[in-house]
Amino acid sequence: MRNPEGLVFSSQQPAEAAPCQEAVAGHFERLAESYATNFDPNTHTGAAVQFQLRRQLTVELLFGEKPRALLDIAAGSGEITHAVASFLAFDELLVNDISPGMLQLAQRSFKQRPPAGSITWTNEDGFELLTKAGADRFDVILCLGLIAHTGRLPELLARAFTSLRRGGVLILQSTLTDHPGAWISTLYARSPLRRVIYKVEAFSKDEILAAASAAGFELAEMRRYGICLPFGDRILHRLNYLLEAAYANKLSKRGGEALFKLRKPI
Ligand SMILES: C[S@@+](CC[C@H](N)C(=O)[O-])C[C@H]1O[C@@H](n2cnc3c(N)ncnc32)[C@H](O)[C@@H]1O
Repeated sequence: MRNPEGLVFSSQQPAEAAPCQEAVAGHFERLAESYATNFDPNTHTGAAVQFQLRRQLTVELLFGEKPRALLDIAAGSGEITHAVASFLAFDELLVNDISPGMLQLAQRSFKQRPPAGSITWTNEDGFELLTKAGADRFDVILCLGLIAHTGRLPELLARAFTSLRRGGVLILQSTLTDHPGAWISTLYARSPLRRVIYKVEAFSKDEILAAASAAGFELAEMRRYGICLPFGDRILHRLNYLLEAAYANKLSKRGGEALFKLRKPI
């Protein structure tokens, strides 16, 4: 199907989406417009510093790659997908998210500044999409901000491994429970005090590396960042922004957030 902006758009939710998956999709549907402000340099919050750093470091981790096909499993409002697509000039891009509202935002920014390559937009569960995509399809897969909302890390890694071509890379982002600040934030996010009706998931660095290795990946690079003070923006307001702006990027070994560049061996 083609949407009004002339882009290929398929929406094939599983007939009976899991209740948790519906809750996640609904949560991001409500969040869509405000989510994009995290990528605006005029948003002076610690969270925005981290999101903008996630975009910068994802691009940096892909320096030197010569990929043809990109999949973003959960593109959100698309800023990171767009930065990567503009930097690497793919032949083919498959941009997916389970939330139609998020995808529309992403489409808007791609339309304003179209990167090279043919773009397919899909509105599906990322796990289903990976299965349907088949083997040896992509050179780069982005999976940023997803596993916190789905868990199922071993399954995700196994499916991404199959879908990558030999030598291809998965960029995986996660908050790390072995960082004290991120651990406290996760405890809260998983508690009944938080009003969303699904439990976020979080992993330690070792859990992620062990699962990646079990799936067959090699660690090409890992980059940590972010001070991640619990409730930093709510309690410290502008001070949290100033602290993250000054130190988030410097915490390359100890930050509470991490990006893993995982390679499928040649
Ligand atoms: C925290 S946002 C991250 C967006 C973007 N990757 C980024 O890093 O800014 C998480 C995104 O995952 C999407 N999502 C959640 N569950 C999903 C699933 N099962 N399949 C595909 N997308 C999903 C949400 O709709 C949301 O846009």
